[in-house]
Amino acid sequence: MRYPLSALGQKMLRLTGVREIMRDIETATAAPSARPWINLSAGNPLVVPELERLWHGIARRLPSAEFGEVIGRYGSSRGYGPFLDTLAADLNVRYGWNISPRNLLVTPGSQTLFFILINLFAGAMSDGSRRRVLLPMSPEYTGYEGVTLDADTLASTRPAVETDGAHTFRYRIDPHDLVIGEDVGALLISRPGNPTGMVIPDAALEQLAGRAAQAQVPLIVDSAYGLPYPALNRVAMRPLFDSHVVHCMSFSKAGLPGARIGVAVADEAVIEAALSFLSNMNIHAPRLGQALVAQAIHDGSLDAVCRTVVGPLYAAKAQRLQALLREHLDGLPWRLHSTDGGLFGWLWLEDLPIDDLTLYARAKAAHVFVVPGSFFFVGLRGQWRHARECLRVSLTASDADLDEGVRRLAGVIRAAYDETPQAQVA
Ligand SMILES: Cc1ncc(COP(=O)(O)O)c(C=O)c1O
Repeated sequence: MRYPLSALGQKMLRLTGVREIMRDIETATAAPSARPWINLSAGNPLVVPELERLWHGIARRLPSAEFGEVIGRYGSSRGYGPFLDTLAADLNVRYGWNISPRNLLVTPGSQTLFFILINLFAGAMSDGSRRRVLLPMSPEYTGYEGVTLDADTLASTRPAVETDGAHTFRYRIDPHDLVIGEDVGALLISRPGNPTGMVIPDAALEQLAGRAAQAQVPLIVDSAYGLPYPALNRVAMRPLFDSHVVHCMSFSKAGLPGARIGVAVADEAVIEAALSFLSNMNIHAPRLGQALVAQAIHDGSLDAVCRTVVGPLYAAKAQRLQALLREHLDGLPWRLHSTDGGLFGWLWLEDLPIDDLTLYARAKAAHVFVVPGSFFFVGLRGQWRHARECLRVSLTASDADLDEGVRRLAGVIRAAYDETPQAQVA
């Protein structure tokens, strides 16, 4: 039986960007195949044995009274008390902030936090006007599009593209040039970025925060790959906290994607609004994972594993990707975005004669999956050829899969450059 769906229901059925690719991969790989598939599209973090041991060990040592408390009782909508106390103290010691648990809110994963924040500050306003979330950077995380209630809630701006060296490039945004109109309800940026891996420099972030303050809107900083955990930054960076900044954390890339823990660090008024939203929607986030994380922050073990194991692991993958591209794409005009941090490599194939979707299809025919770049230019108006010349390559594959996947991908790319645009039109 088919029931009529609301407009929101219909919007939520649509898979945005990367999730559409995930569905395609599930379907393609479900059929038996003699040739192994290589998936360089995944956003699922690597399984890191040291992290698994850490979480399993803490779970085993959890006192039974605390276990009963966190799974057998409802709790505060703000989060689990010992977790909030430990995290506030940790952030204050690390960054000299002066926050208390009243500046924190725990959500079931940071995706839910973005759902709350985007819909608090953008969409239909009570005076009848409409507001948008402005992404100062494009390309940006496609998951933000999935949590908007109306189409057209996100707007983004085109960055400058700077080339430095034969095979690297970097996006740059100038906060002074950003036009923050009256219809903008918040700014939002991932740091390190998904898909680019870019860490917007501290000074530029501070300027962005200044612009947000002037416009009297919040600057939301998505630190899912950043500091203090999982600390997948490979350049120095400082997180920012002030009355106009919402610093958003996730413990998914620190080995707990299934525990669903996101955290907002913000001004009390913003936290109170988000807390009421969460309370209506979820009552509160699951508490067992919060109890585990509280211990691992308190005894320093999470910090140690992130710094000595997880960070170096992804840094080595990023270097491996760069070396593989150098080896297999020799002589072609490829560029990798500076891999300041995060889980992905962002490849720009300048003047590629075919578009990114065609490249995706041809890579799929060679049994390798990557994510077409155009998905990530959410909210960008107007045509930009660059958006069709990029690909996201995940650093979460095994070394063997990365080697073989890039080799196959390079074959497809080389063949595409061998075509002339005229041949394609004909
Ligand atoms: C940039 C970014 N932000 C947020 C999320 C959501 O993560 P989670 O809901 O697991 O905290 C992801 C997921 O991969 C992401 O890439």
